Amino acid sequence: MRRSLIMGNWKMNGSREEGIQLATALAEGLGTVEQEVAVCVPFIYLTDIRNALAGSAIAVGAQNVADQAAGAYTGEVSAAMLADSGIKYALVGHSERRSYYGDTNQSVANRFAQALKQNIIPVLCVGETLAEREADQTFSVIDAQLDAVINTTGIEAFANAVIAYEPVWAIGTGKTATDEQAQEVHAYIRSRIAALNPEIAAKLQILYGGSVKADNAKGLFAQPDIDGGLVGGASLDAKGFLQISHSV
Ligand code: G3P
Repeated sequence: MRRSLIMGNWKMNGSREEGIQLATALAEGLGTVEQEVAVCVPFIYLTDIRNALAGSAIAVGAQNVADQAAGAYTGEVSAAMLADSGIKYALVGHSERRSYYGDTNQSVANRFAQALKQNIIPVLCVGETLAEREADQTFSVIDAQLDAVINTTGIEAFANAVIAYEPVWAIGTGKTATDEQAQEVHAYIRSRIAALNPEIAAKLQILYGGSVKADNAKGLFAQPDIDGGLVGGASLDAKGFLQISHSV
């Protein structure tokens, strides 16, 4: 009943020309598929990539969004600006934002709320560090990350959102969570949402992120609570990302 979603996160990589070439190759190579495919690109290239993908089935997302609606917030990009630019998704709370730029659970919740107000689909990234996993804190860390959003927007907001579970220790390290490790956390996330609203939980897309590659995507995506992937490094190569996109 849930459509899969394969989402690339280009992070801060590539030039305008390289981005347009990559997007064009994806649009040409995807073919007709059941699953949803999207790429999250640097702010400054959003409209270029949106134009390159016009007429294709591939949607465009931003990698962040401001936690305020408008005003004197130098350097920020609002959800209204994203909506105005034809952008469908915004990542919120990626671990790189949380660890390098001070995004807190509450500011992530505010970003999530701002996105929804403008009909941008927020992709809420959650996940534990290696130290937290080793200290048996995986579930409590995820609880806190989810609760901040639920308390700010209410559970109903998750009817129009996506969650991405990205264990920090698996991001860019080549160390993927095993299919079972990932499924365990995905099932936990879904059960927490289900405790508040079973219908929303049943429809919620929960993506796995962290060293997803063409050779491990199939096993991960076959898990019952894994509805696709948020792909970093491997999304920068058209052939690899298309292979991952075709792995559901
Ligand atoms: O958002 C995607 C991500 O952080 C995973 O990156 O390079 O491990 O696929 P990577």
